[in-house]
Amino acid sequence: MRPKNLKTRIFLDGGNPDETQAIIKLLGFLDGQTTNPTLISRNPEARRMLDRGEKFSAEKLIDFYRQVVTTICGLIPEGSVSVEVYSDPATTAGTMLAQGKEMFSWTANAHVKFPTTREGLKAAEHAVKAGMRVNMTLNFSQEQAAAVYAATRGARKGQVFISPFVGRLDDRGEDGMDLIADIVKMYRQGDGHVEVLTASVRSLGHLLYAFKLGSDIVTAPYEVLKEWGDKGMPLPDAGFAYGTRNLRPIPYREIDLAKKWQDYDLRHDLTDKGMEKFSADWNALIRPEDRKIA
Ligand code: E4P
Repeated sequence: MRPKNLKTRIFLDGGNPDETQAIIKLLGFLDGQTTNPTLISRNPEARRMLDRGEKFSAEKLIDFYRQVVTTICGLIPEGSVSVEVYSDPATTAGTMLAQGKEMFSWTANAHVKFPTTREGLKAAEHAVKAGMRVNMTLNFSQEQAAAVYAATRGARKGQVFISPFVGRLDDRGEDGMDLIADIVKMYRQGDGHVEVLTASVRSLGHLLYAFKLGSDIVTAPYEVLKEWGDKGMPLPDAGFAYGTRNLRPIPYREIDLAKKWQDYDLRHDLTDKGMEKFSADWNALIRPEDRKIA
């Protein structure tokens, strides 16, 4: 059962419903799940198909994604399940929005993931106005987080998540957890309509520190949630210290949340690289003649 003093919601990061089942059994609860194209490409059924030398048609792959998502939703009917649109550098806001609308209709508890780019924010702005729930993904900077806040102004609480990717910042020597601290602090000056979902979690240290920093949600892979569950679901105590292994700090910046979203600097090379990897992993599942890009 959920530890009494745990305020942060716990999501599983994965594309395999068997893992969802196993984590619910281990923890006794699960608040939601996040998926992405890479995680879907690692689904065991998809792997078996590729091992047989077969690929999906574009339509069949969407059907497969829907089937995985609806199975997960059946396991956590009260939870949120994040479903990601296909996007590469050429994908327009209109195309993302059309995909998002379809994905949002798959289940009663979907959050649609759009990239934190100009086109992704344009799509999200429309989506939120149309009443959809969104999760802004591939977030790597405080300035991008300010843009998410501005683009979704007027949304109700629970409608908008932002996913800062801590592990990918750590991977290149920057302290990803600083970004969580910075965004949580910046959003305290706002109206609370965007919830911080710590993503790209690689360790129990990330998970516990996210609790301590007051992240609204954390999504973690099966292995990390299993370790947490096996250890009795510990919470950070007063003496908890997060070891940063000599990572470079990401200092807090004073950013005005009142600007138009178009006026923030949205560029980040990890956002671009992340989109490239997600679209490549998705396209690798599809027959070449059906791919959106070669
Ligand atoms: C979840 O929403 C993210 O897509 C995921 O946490 C990314 O994790 P990774 O950096 O380990 O791929």
